[in-house]
Amino acid sequence: MSTQKEYLEANKQRFLDELFALLRLPSVSADVKYKDDVLRTADMVADSLRKAGADNVEIMPTGGYPIVYADKIIDATLPTVIVYGHYDVQPADPINLWHTPPFEPTIKTTEIHPEGAIFARGSCDDKGQMYMHVKAFEVMMQTNTLPCNVKFMIEGEEEVGSANLGKFLQDNKERYNGDVILISDTSIIANDTPSIDCGLRGLAYMEVEVTGPNRDLHSGVYGGAVANPANVLSKMIASLHDDNGHVTIKGFYDDVIELTTQERIELNKAPFDITVYEKDLDIATIQGEKGYTTIERTGIRPTLDVNGIWGGYTGEGAKTVLPSKAYAKISMRLVPNQNSDKVTKLFTDHFKALAPASVKVKVTPHHGGEPVVIPTNSIGYKAAELAMTETYGKKPIPTRGGGSIPIVALFKSVLKLDSILMGFGLDSDALHSPNEHYGLVNYYKGIETIPLFYKHFTNLKKN
Ligand code: BES
Ligand code: MN
Ligand code: MN
Repeated sequence: MSTQKEYLEANKQRFLDELFALLRLPSVSADVKYKDDVLRTADMVADSLRKAGADNVEIMPTGGYPIVYADKIIDATLPTVIVYGHYDVQPADPINLWHTPPFEPTIKTTEIHPEGAIFARGSCDDKGQMYMHVKAFEVMMQTNTLPCNVKFMIEGEEEVGSANLGKFLQDNKERYNGDVILISDTSIIANDTPSIDCGLRGLAYMEVEVTGPNRDLHSGVYGGAVANPANVLSKMIASLHDDNGHVTIKGFYDDVIELTTQERIELNKAPFDITVYEKDLDIATIQGEKGYTTIERTGIRPTLDVNGIWGGYTGEGAKTVLPSKAYAKISMRLVPNQNSDKVTKLFTDHFKALAPASVKVKVTPHHGGEPVVIPTNSIGYKAAELAMTETYGKKPIPTRGGGSIPIVALFKSVLKLDSILMGFGLDSDALHSPNEHYGLVNYYKGIETIPLFYKHFTNLKKN
């Protein structure tokens, strides 16, 4: 029987081919047009788990897209690792900015990925990272080295807010009893600088609609005499930050936990090169909330951003029109101890109060999610630290992730379990952007590291 390393080496190409097949399915959860593809993706994930050696593989219905369940219980007295991931992806738009088609995976090298990276929507977020767990499981099964029990929960609505997962968790608490949640859906600092996220931000996402006159008007005949909702909306949005980059919504910072000076020093020890950051984004300079570093602005501070803004004429050429309506999608990233419902209410009241009498304002909340911090003194964290130290030759640095995975807070409140965010992507892998990619090195390193997490977790649990 081969060792884990030998098995991985001998099956490298097949592991890649299988991921390619998964990436070819456009499982865009946000767009009903892709419904069949999303469902087909769930089938493919279930199939792959069955082939890898899992038992009780089930495609479990929810109010939305199904959750793939699978397990391998080798001994009820041993610990159980619960693997969470998502098989849905973000829309590929804007399609014309992709250099290769988003659902035809292609390998190309980049400056950061000289050994090659897989270009495809979902390659990093999260199909590539989720599939590492399926392959790591296969490696352990085929080398007879699975040291504990495992349960999989692979969902299909993460990118649209996991609205049905809360109820699903409540209804299936028993099924998901276990000892730790293991997730690869975050980033490391760099391929030579491993890190583990020990916090995620929450989210409050709103859509606003500003209405002026009852119909679009000739901007020469009426312009200057009637409120233009696009002008008004722009001014309202501009007022949501002051000159220091603070959010002006009353009470917005009330519940924010400020880190101690010592904690901030620790956080800022993570290697970070502002010049590289600016160059990667092709910006002359960064900006943000006064008094905080870039690491802090994206990790421990709440933010407010417009994700989309529209209204009036946006087609070819020029049309002189004073629009009847203008819209924006506005999201706020939250940090401990902010609460998404509370912030939603603060925003709604504030935004309505901002509107001049000449327009009507409607605010509609979309999805939300709560922020989390994950302790670094747990057995789960230590196991991840040991596993990464083994494969990277360096102790991973604890960091704070700027993104959100709303289910992590629910794992804590419903299952009372900490999640270990052992991600392998890079922030520069263009998640949610055109030309998303995932390094081949990262993919294989993940498959190599995950079994070591199982090993260390099981050992630490024993002692
Ligand atoms: N995998 C990301 C979250 C992430 C990325 C966390 C990088 C930390 C580092 C996840 O798929 C995601 O995109 N989540 C959404 C939230 C959701 C409610 C749409 C997000 O953060 O915008
Ligand atoms: Mn993700
Ligand atoms: Mn995502």
